[in-house]
Amino acid sequence: MKVYRNTKTKSVIEIVFGEAVPEGYVECFAGEVDAAQEKHVPHLEKDGTTLKVQVGSVEHPMLPEHYITAIWVELKDGTLYKQTLHANQKPEAHFDLGSYTGELTVYEYCNLHGLWKATIEF
Ligand SMILES: [Fe+2]
Repeated sequence: MKVYRNTKTKSVIEIVFGEAVPEGYVECFAGEVDAAQEKHVPHLEKDGTTLKVQVGSVEHPMLPEHYITAIWVELKDGTLYKQTLHANQKPEAHFDLGSYTGELTVYEYCNLHGLWKATIEF
């Protein structure tokens, strides 16, 4: 998965297959914006078959002007889970991964501070 931001509208999309990027979008890279890591790097916890994600180890704000817009979980086979979030919600999500085992990567997008990621052996 790759995440792209529209430079004018600030809208964000993910592309899971293919290389064609819509005009006006630029690729986002995890950690490219200088901001507090402890509020942005996803904090991951395995609880049985459930992956618990919190952004971050110190809870990120969820204000209308500054919040986490989405959390993605990408498994090593390319399977993708997504939870969209809104202001005033908790910056967290739970994903039931069933019998999955192996490495996975969790991404989150902050409307002010961009893309962040963390990996875990699940
Ligand atoms: Fe932020």
